[in-house]
Amino acid sequence: MEQFSPDVLISEEDIALRIDALAKAINEEFEGQELVVVCVLKGAFMFCSDLIKKINLPVTLEFLQLSSYGEGMTSTGNVKIEMDLSGSIDGKNVLIVEDIVDTGLTLTSLLDMLAMRSPKTIKLASLLFKPSRNKYPVPIDYLGFEIEDKFVIGYGLDYAGRYRELPYIGVLNAGN
Ligand code: IMP
Repeated sequence: MEQFSPDVLISEEDIALRIDALAKAINEEFEGQELVVVCVLKGAFMFCSDLIKKINLPVTLEFLQLSSYGEGMTSTGNVKIEMDLSGSIDGKNVLIVEDIVDTGLTLTSLLDMLAMRSPKTIKLASLLFKPSRNKYPVPIDYLGFEIEDKFVIGYGLDYAGRYRELPYIGVLNAGN
């Protein structure tokens, strides 16, 4: 199996520091309240896992899987819920945790779908955002890092199902 060695774009240490800051802001905003954390599979699993360890609130963890990019680097333009939440979010504070906002299509669609279920509040945490690719404006309440228009892998993000296990965000370069 072909295995490229990625260049590090954001180190494990920098991710950890940024997550501390995001969790602090979330703890302050929701002080004294409960939070339903919705981890968007598969890409957000590592970010969500590290983030909730730093949240000092009563958290209920939910998972949701959407139709994905498929095997390549471009969106199919079609967002569908493949695996839904296990419980109701009616009247609850919801925090969606996503790996990356690229064109914004996925999150725009998801926010619309979840807003119809009458949550008390709905906020979004995304580890990464590619502003140059954004077509659908998405309100990211807690953002890890803005990045250039590069296809990134690692720390949960994949290329054709690979590289999710890397502890850092990397860039694949043909030739190394
Ligand atoms: P959007 O709908 O265009 O915002 O795409 C969001 C989804 O595309 C993310 O949840 C990822 O699954 C995938 N994606 C977008 N850019 C990248 C990337 O650079 N690396 C890996 N996955 C990506």
